Amino acid sequence: MTSLDNVASWIAAARSVVALTGAGISTESGIPDFRGPDGLWKRDPRAERLSNIGYYLADERIRRESWQRRVEHPAWGARPNAGHRALVALERAGHLDLLVTQNIDGLHLAAGADPDRLIEIHGTIRETACLGCGDRRPMRETLDRVRGGEADPPCLACGGILKSATVSFGQNLDPVLLRRADEAATTCDLFLAIGTSLTVYPVARLPEIAKEVGARLVIVNAEPTAFDHRADAVLRGRAGELLPALVEGATPR
Ligand code: APR
Repeated sequence: MTSLDNVASWIAAARSVVALTGAGISTESGIPDFRGPDGLWKRDPRAERLSNIGYYLADERIRRESWQRRVEHPAWGARPNAGHRALVALERAGHLDLLVTQNIDGLHLAAGADPDRLIEIHGTIRETACLGCGDRRPMRETLDRVRGGEADPPCLACGGILKSATVSFGQNLDPVLLRRADEAATTCDLFLAIGTSLTVYPVARLPEIAKEVGARLVIVNAEPTAFDHRADAVLRGRAGELLPALVEGATPR
């Protein structure tokens, strides 16, 4: 049996499957990743500064540039791809207990993922959050204000600094979501890491936790990751091709 057939049989037989996705599952929808060959951090190192909460709070120019990038974000025109849809099929066939995504593009929800089985652990670009009072609103309302000329729109509730409801470097993840993801990793017997370089903590701890409790670790990624040496199987290639083949093999008609 090929490695892919093995993994499909592991999925079919698993008691509890957890999947972790990263930017690599959305590149086939036209959203660049960060550290891949033409990733955002590679092409535009300045972009990384925009993702640091310290610079964002301190420098209005950083906020103005961030709002322009949010207006132009490729997520607005992106559609879920075959990789996203394959994970929904796996969930609906009863072979995916929890999907943790680092992505903020909302494409897993758009593909039909069950919100109760999805954790957007780095937040979402589809809402804004006030860094002062926590007020949350749909992103489209604030983007309309930016297009209307407000270059750095303040919170309508308290006048505070607004940001997308995403987790920037220097901000803490939601402890409740992180605990839920940790618990799922400690109780699963199969962990799928898909389209992620597994370089950003604390999320990159999840496959380690799964391995520590004896789960099998499968990595589906276009390039080597920091965890390949710990994986029980590495499927090298495009998620949009590999995931449908895995679902096909794990859920024979
Ligand atoms: N299929 C499979 N893998 C792919 C594909 C694809 N179509 N396209 C890209 N990849 C791989 C790349 O080779 C890369 O190893 O996906 C991985 C994406 O890694 P990163 O760009 O580091 O993205 P991610 O792991 O999600 O980053 C984690 O870092 O920048 C922060 O908060 C941001 O959530 C992000 C976090």
